[in-house]
Amino acid sequence: MNKRIEDKSRKRVLSGIQPTGEVHLGNYLGALRQWVEMQDHYDCFYSIVDQHAILGDGDPATLPSRTVEMAISLLSVGLDPEKCTIFVQSDVPEHLELSWMFNTVAPVGDLERMTQYKDKSARYDSIPAGLLNYPILQAADILIYRAEAVPVGEDQKQHLELTRDIARKWNARYGELFPEPEAIVPSVGRIRGLDGNKKMSKSLGNTVGIFSEQEEVWSGIRTAVTDPQRIRKDDPGRPEVCNVFSLHRLIGDQGKISDIEIQCLAGSRGCVDCKKILSDDVVNQFAPFREKAEYYRSDINQVLGLLESGRDKARKIARDTLKEARQKMGLDWRSIF
Ligand code: TRP
Repeated sequence: MNKRIEDKSRKRVLSGIQPTGEVHLGNYLGALRQWVEMQDHYDCFYSIVDQHAILGDGDPATLPSRTVEMAISLLSVGLDPEKCTIFVQSDVPEHLELSWMFNTVAPVGDLERMTQYKDKSARYDSIPAGLLNYPILQAADILIYRAEAVPVGEDQKQHLELTRDIARKWNARYGELFPEPEAIVPSVGRIRGLDGNKKMSKSLGNTVGIFSEQEEVWSGIRTAVTDPQRIRKDDPGRPEVCNVFSLHRLIGDQGKISDIEIQCLAGSRGCVDCKKILSDDVVNQFAPFREKAEYYRSDINQVLGLLESGRDKARKIARDTLKEARQKMGLDWRSIF
């Protein structure tokens, strides 16, 4: 048993990621790089949230492989099961019971005000109740571990606020049990898609997967949108509005950054050249991920074993919390005898 995880002085962290299969550049820069960093400083629980993924157009035929692929991605970018706990949400059914308990305190009005709900519900003729209740399950994911901090993107801050409200309301009604977790939002800012879209995502096809080889990385980055006002190769560019430049900042070789900036401003380096440098840097950063993925794929039983021990560690804590919650809510009826 790992000593770090047993260390009570470390703050507990939980975060979740959808089982989309292979992680892409945006997931990596916007979330996972921070998850990897945090495993050395916090008692981290990372969940592959398949119960959330069954909402909407999730395909049941591919969900199992997307779940396992996500686990392989998490391990390949550097999450170390000796340092953190990686598990699949549906392996810990206690989340769902706590989620029902939270359904009894969360106001419908608050749920209807969630931006993500408003955006997503507009796409349905008949809105599934789970879409409205999605943030309640998210609150349960977090609070069942009594996590104090949650690394999330900007778009999830509102769900974290709701989680805090739920914790506060529940505690006020039934007695102190849950902390009010804080959101830790990485300072990378918004990561725009390679096509300039405000979101980088796999479904929009404007990103590159972390297991991509050189050719694939280049074919993604080659077409990336740069400063739209820079038309000719020797026009001076504006790095501050160029998405390729912000990616250089986030993932490029930091030793070359100031040269790239100066040359862009002076119009002495063309965009294609600049993208080549970025592409090579991305390929270099991704190379160890590909190697690790190969290693895990050749020993899939190891991955399954790691998810089992993750489940066991998570479940133990989840059961303890749920036991207390049941007591406080009067559901432990046998205790009167
Ligand atoms: N809603 C999150 C997303 O779509 C995923 C998620 C589910 C999550 N449960 C969580 C994130 C708990 C943080 C904590 O990105």
